[in-house]
Amino acid sequence: MHRVAISGTGLFTPEQIVTNAELVASYNAYAEAQNAKNAEAIAAGAAEPLPFSSEAFIVKASGIERRYVMDKKGVLDPALMRPVLRERADDELSIMAEIAVAAARQAMENAGLAAGDVDAVICAASNHERAYPAIAIEVQQALGIRGFAFDMNVACSSATFGIQAAADMIRSGSARAILMVNPEITSGHHEWRDRDCHFIFGDVCTAVVLQRADMVTSDNAWEILSTRCITEFSNNIRNNNGFLRRTREGHMADRRDMQFRQEGRKVFKQVVPMVTELMLSHLADEGVAPDDLDRMWLHQANKSMNDLIGAKVLGREPTREEQPNVLQDYANTSSAGSIIAFHEFSGDLPAGSLGVICSFGAGYSAGSVIVRKLAAAA
Ligand code: COA
Repeated sequence: MHRVAISGTGLFTPEQIVTNAELVASYNAYAEAQNAKNAEAIAAGAAEPLPFSSEAFIVKASGIERRYVMDKKGVLDPALMRPVLRERADDELSIMAEIAVAAARQAMENAGLAAGDVDAVICAASNHERAYPAIAIEVQQALGIRGFAFDMNVACSSATFGIQAAADMIRSGSARAILMVNPEITSGHHEWRDRDCHFIFGDVCTAVVLQRADMVTSDNAWEILSTRCITEFSNNIRNNNGFLRRTREGHMADRRDMQFRQEGRKVFKQVVPMVTELMLSHLADEGVAPDDLDRMWLHQANKSMNDLIGAKVLGREPTREEQPNVLQDYANTSSAGSIIAFHEFSGDLPAGSLGVICSFGAGYSAGSVIVRKLAAAA
């Protein structure tokens, strides 16, 4: 069995930012227009008016201050409330592959690897823009990588599940190095017209290169000591859109359940103990005391949630260095969140440092990856 390391990461960030102030102004204009349209029904007590959103609530409830999006104009247009992305021809690079290639090039450069050194590509994301051919195979072709590629989806936990899949394949010898990408165009499956969640998501793409530890040349490489993934079925985060949509009466309509929806409070209450138990049991089984951890890179959905998980794992409040958050700038970027945190906050730690990458989300699903920084290659 080979030892495995994460030897490079990459990040693609869209150019456009939406602040909470812009988002709330757009949502409130939408709500006002809807209420004017339904004034009669509302006055007759036959319909409820849409309530207004507030910046203060968003920051207090989630910690999110802004987010990146692929199309700000469409998302903020009260008459649209969704991104408008140009349709591409079949022989053009698709938009998910395009942002994946941008993040992948950076990750491969950081790992010091050329296309010929990589044997497989995994596209692990919470939605894929088409059924087939796989986005991963398109990325593979665009980068000139040989071997094989496939897509996988474990919602917000896609990246840690992808890391486990890649690490297991490298350990057993089916690949020397694997590129895993997480293109998350969450704005496409998000419901911008729902006040309870309209502030949650942002777009981004991350990439991770995993390779045999004995072949690493990067100065910021982290050996994967162990991975653990768990799932427990829940309907509290759900999206009913899928290929059987047109087979069902009334499913082609503009239905709320065809976009992301959640019972946020229930998710909070149920996922915190699930993740805490996963992290503590995983660390204990690997003989790592929580106090030995130098850093935790957690999924980026909610600041209070991360504060609580961090405090339960360490038995005290973690410092910002021990548990960096990026959600104030990126919002929830689904599977990419913990990888953005790792990408931005891992280079400063010395060799021998210990950390955990942990994601959690729909399914429910949660993944924990214990890593230790390798000494710089001679
Ligand atoms: N502006 C103003 N008020 C709002 C609002 C908004 N945008 N959205 C909701 N509210 C109101 C609610 O109507 C409710 O009012 P009430 O007390 O009069 O009934 C109150 O604020 C609290 O709403 P609630 O939805 O219970 O808020 P919350 O504290 O649970 O925060 C989330 C909402 C979504 C931020 C939070 O539940 C969360 O992050 N949960 C975890 C989600 C998660 O991890 N999901 C994974 C996704 S991949």
